[in-house]
Amino acid sequence: MAGVALSDVTKRFGTVQAVSHVSLHVEEGEFFSLLGPSGCGKTTMLRMLAGFISPTAGSISIGGINVTELPPEKRDVGIVFQNYAIFPHMNVYDNIGFGLRMRKVARPELDRRVRAALEQVGLRGYEKRYQREMSGGEQQRVALARVLVTQPRILLLDEPLSALDKKLREEMKYWIRDLHAQLGITAIYVTHDQGEALTMSDRIAVMRNGAVEQVGTPREVYEQPQTHFVTDFIGESNILPARVLEVDHEYVRLTLAGFSVMAQRRDVSAGQQVSLVVRPEHVVLGLDAERRDLNQLTGRVTKELYHGSLIRYELQVGEQSLVAESQNTLEQQVFPLGAEISVGWYPSSCSLLLD
Ligand SMILES: Nc1ncnc2c1ncn2[C@@H]1O[C@H](COP(=O)(O)OP(=O)(O)OP(=O)(O)O)[C@@H](O)[C@H]1O
Ligand SMILES: [Mg+2]
Repeated sequence: MAGVALSDVTKRFGTVQAVSHVSLHVEEGEFFSLLGPSGCGKTTMLRMLAGFISPTAGSISIGGINVTELPPEKRDVGIVFQNYAIFPHMNVYDNIGFGLRMRKVARPELDRRVRAALEQVGLRGYEKRYQREMSGGEQQRVALARVLVTQPRILLLDEPLSALDKKLREEMKYWIRDLHAQLGITAIYVTHDQGEALTMSDRIAVMRNGAVEQVGTPREVYEQPQTHFVTDFIGESNILPARVLEVDHEYVRLTLAGFSVMAQRRDVSAGQQVSLVVRPEHVVLGLDAERRDLNQLTGRVTKELYHGSLIRYELQVGEQSLVAESQNTLEQQVFPLGAEISVGWYPSSCSLLLD
């Protein structure tokens, strides 16, 4: 086991800058995700970590040792790809043992390790099966066992669930998360699926155009996105133009659609134009009394959409439109179209964007 550090890593392919000046530190034992849209450089990052390609500039270290110039086989890194990559002409046992046979591991040791890996991925009894006799999820578990059997210090996973159907993907993401907790291995997981990254990761790096835009825990990137891109990419948000009125040691006071609202302090100054971000599920509707702890505005209901477990409202607040989602519980009031209602949120549940 070991941590991973990237220092100012850049990768160019001809004129394409696939990765730009990335510096990251992944802690030992952490489940760390690289999240971003197609083409943002995620696979390129993994290929550099595995040693299949070299950075154009910058350095990579694993367990405190500079591995930038080391070939893949000297790095103790295992990689699982999107499309299983298991050999169709070999049974499960031989697939998993393949890497060990290549390394000339003696038969009894090989047998012990293959069986242990099968146990780890919950496939005991599958030794003699072939690829065509297994579901996609089982094949992906064989692919994972094939990597785990080599006892890598770092586990790299490149969109390992994207070839599976939705239901299986849901199951597998909890399964991988639990397996990681048992093994305690450092894992770097690539995905473009924000839901996957949020549920599985200890921390997430959100990438865009080869660069890292924000690094944080799932809660941090979801609740305190630092840029427009991160805000837009992760979940739905209200992004509302606002102007700073004053800044004190704890809060920023702003004017938004003619109302005065508070947000947590950021480095801004009076008069500055910013965007205030509030998630739909953090908007509280129909407050019946003056609540000094909440930002309180007034809006008119312009749309109501029933989603089963929640109800989604669109509101007009001054010149701005705002989306709110309420849990569909027995206690929750229902608001008719056209109703003028109070709209609020806690200063701690909104954030400011400066870009
Ligand atoms: N060998 C290569 N030669 C030239 N360009 C490349 C090469 N490999 C990747 N690229 C380019 O680098 C950029 C990043 O590619 P990469 O495969 O890392 O993206 P990704 O984030 O993994 O995308 P996806 O989610 O679609 O898998 C893309 O613009 C891609 O076209
Ligand atoms: Mg990729």
